[in-house]
Amino acid sequence: MSAHEAKTINLILKVWRQPNPNQPGAFAHYDAKNVSTEMSFLEMLDVVNERITLEGKEEPIAFDHDCREGICGMCGAVVNGQAHGRLKGTTLCQLHMRHFNDGETLYIEPFRAQAFPIIKDLAVDRSGFDQIIAAGGFITVKTGQAPSADAILVPKKDSDLAMDAAACIGCGACVAACPNGSAMLFVSAKVSHLGLLPQGQPERYQRVARMVSKMDELGFGNCTNHLECEAACPKEIKFTNIARLNRDYLLARLTAADQETGPAGGF
Ligand code: SF4
Ligand code: FES
Repeated sequence: MSAHEAKTINLILKVWRQPNPNQPGAFAHYDAKNVSTEMSFLEMLDVVNERITLEGKEEPIAFDHDCREGICGMCGAVVNGQAHGRLKGTTLCQLHMRHFNDGETLYIEPFRAQAFPIIKDLAVDRSGFDQIIAAGGFITVKTGQAPSADAILVPKKDSDLAMDAAACIGCGACVAACPNGSAMLFVSAKVSHLGLLPQGQPERYQRVARMVSKMDELGFGNCTNHLECEAACPKEIKFTNIARLNRDYLLARLTAADQETGPAGGF
């Protein structure tokens, strides 16, 4: 058999089933037999769901997904205690079954955080992230027609850092991995990718003040330097972005930039 030839494995799944936010959940047992090692983790769940549907005794397992290409941020679950599973820098949809061993037991749970209430089974409500973005994660500069790429010069170092931060897909694994349920890595990525570029300067301090304020209001915890967020992040967003956020937040407070009114107020 060639190194790339598919083989099959058998797994024991303990999957968190919870019918809705108001009823208690529990782990349910499923035997996942003859799982192709070429499948992604979500395809493996699809196959389990097909069997559940054919048996007709219960509803299929609810889980979020969309692109299945590691770019949309919709997928996510905790597999044996690790957000997005065991492969570093990889979303759950890009985790393949060749990374598991025959006979393994996998505990599959939703992202757990006070600010991410469970909707059903593995699906959680991450709309808090949308609210944080709506609070300030944008620029209001009128761009008009697309300018020539070299009209605004950006130092290479800054553009590299901004692009690295912009890789955040808003999946929420950082929140699930943090013992405080903090969204600091997510917010710092958004603050950094805008605040490092010239177009993001006018609202830079107002932005950070408003996003942090919304994060606090929604019940996300604060950062106490565990670094679990960076370890869990499928896009390997660097913890140093949080240091940048903290510096900008301090300046926002000192200059009372958060007292401005309206998204573009005062600028
Ligand atoms: S910082 Fe990483 S883990 Fe957090 S939302 Fe962005 S991509 Fe996901
Ligand atoms: S489904 Fe889009 S990142 Fe996984």
